[in-house]
Amino acid sequence: MNIHIISIFPEAFDSYFSSSILWNAQKNNLFQVHFYKLNDFSDKKFKHIDDKAYGMHGQVISPEPTAKAIDFVLEKIWKKVPIIYLTPAWELLQQEKVEKYVEEFEEDIIILCGHYEWVDQRIRDLYVTHEISIWEYVLSSGELSAMVFIDSLVRHLPWVLWNKISLEEESFSEKLDRKKEYPVYTRPATFRWLEVPEILRSWDHGKIEKWKFDNLQ
Ligand SMILES: C[S@@+](CC[C@H](N)C(=O)[O-])C[C@H]1O[C@@H](n2cnc3c(N)ncnc32)[C@H](O)[C@@H]1O
Repeated sequence: MNIHIISIFPEAFDSYFSSSILWNAQKNNLFQVHFYKLNDFSDKKFKHIDDKAYGMHGQVISPEPTAKAIDFVLEKIWKKVPIIYLTPAWELLQQEKVEKYVEEFEEDIIILCGHYEWVDQRIRDLYVTHEISIWEYVLSSGELSAMVFIDSLVRHLPWVLWNKISLEEESFSEKLDRKKEYPVYTRPATFRWLEVPEILRSWDHGKIEKWKFDNLQ
């Protein structure tokens, strides 16, 4: 999967994308990120990309540089692709939807990270195909929500996680009836005054399976 990210702050992605699962997945060519700095598409002298909102307070991301950036990516990949705008105001991201997006999205997706008040509404009307909120609170800009969204997608791509069971049996998965995963333990068997439940140490897989489902949180 190629993820094309249009952002005012592409450097914000550096540390998260260069560690752990996301880093390994990129090294193994399981997905790639391509950054486009929005200011590079500005015709303004100081490369600014925002302007005052009509009729209300605050700044808004201007339509011209945003359209130019999206058109640039579309010309490069030369096909119709999902164009995702991260915004607190729309569809809440949930595991079931992540699974749906992974099925629906093909080779390329474009992600537009917002900042200031909004991006100009006409960009939403003309270009955006999906509006996704990572939950009901407001962050300062879309980079953090884009990272959350990308991480939630990428862990579902083939070969990103070696242990498929981790994916199948995790919180909100279909197999766990969309409930929260059971508690898990590792060695030592006794820590402080707390013991690992007897059944988990029994090697009786039937009983362990039952314990897991009885202990969904
Ligand atoms: C300060 S917010 C804009 C908030 C907007 N004026 C409102 O009242 O809904 C700036 C940007 O951060 C991103 N953002 C903030 N909270 C978010 C959330 N919960 N989910 C997804 N993106 C979010 C969006 O890209 C948004 O355009």
